[in-house]
Amino acid sequence: MNDVVLRAEGVHKSYDGLDVLRGVSIDVGRGEVKVIIGPSGSGKSTLLRCLALLEPVDSGSVYLESERLSDLREKQLAAHRSEVGMVFQRFNLFQNMTALGNVMCGLVEVRGLKRREARERAREFLARVGLADKADNYPEELSGGQQQRVAIARALVMRPKAMLFDEPTSALDVELVREVLDVMEGLARDGMTMIVVSHELRFAHHVASSILMMDEGQVIEEAPPDRFFSAPSHERTKRFLALVE
Ligand SMILES: Nc1ncnc2c1ncn2[C@@H]1O[C@H](COP(=O)(O)OP(=O)(O)O)[C@@H](O)[C@H]1O
Ligand SMILES: [Mg+2]
Repeated sequence: MNDVVLRAEGVHKSYDGLDVLRGVSIDVGRGEVKVIIGPSGSGKSTLLRCLALLEPVDSGSVYLESERLSDLREKQLAAHRSEVGMVFQRFNLFQNMTALGNVMCGLVEVRGLKRREARERAREFLARVGLADKADNYPEELSGGQQQRVAIARALVMRPKAMLFDEPTSALDVELVREVLDVMEGLARDGMTMIVVSHELRFAHHVASSILMMDEGQVIEEAPPDRFFSAPSHERTKRFLALVE
């Protein structure tokens, strides 16, 4: 495929002798949505952090569009970091800033926009996630679902080339999951390139171009959703799906 936006190639990563990623390769083409599932501790979050350039790899490569980023130094990396949006399980909003402040701060600090311009653009993106009326609220005044949507707006406002989501709904009360998945489905429909770690299988089936199963630091299987769910080829995948369903 020519138009690969983000790619990991043979990535290895260990922490204190623990091999967390053992030769992971994944790529996502423009407008594709890849969903990653797998048991706790299989390396899903670590893989996303490597792809988001938040974590250096031990060996292997990470490419953004066709540029190999894994060899860049910290200063050059920082320039690329805002090109990959990341949304975490626990929202990670700045508690001392309003929703609007959270969304606009990257535009001011990283992109050097004037505050007025940043504020305008941030309002536009808050509206996109359905939170135009919450601009002046602080995170603690918002529900988990609203906080997560602010976090999504904060990443989107930087106009990233790809968006990575690390179990974005797993810290939410069940009745708040849908509003976040709806925003993500909207993004997918609009052609955003996405990698999503999630065990919301119905969402995955509906939205994913393909689904990957990770186990013990490796991608053991990748297939389009229909095939992945109806005829997974690995015993490990079958067992895991039975547990999650
Ligand atoms: N910063 C870190 N330092 C040490 N160990 C880590 C670190 N991050 C992750 N690990 C370990 O790596 C393994 C995989 O973690 P993680 O990538 O979070 O898996 P998953 O997201 O699939 O649950 C776990 O055993 C975890 O304890
Ligand atoms: Mg994780």
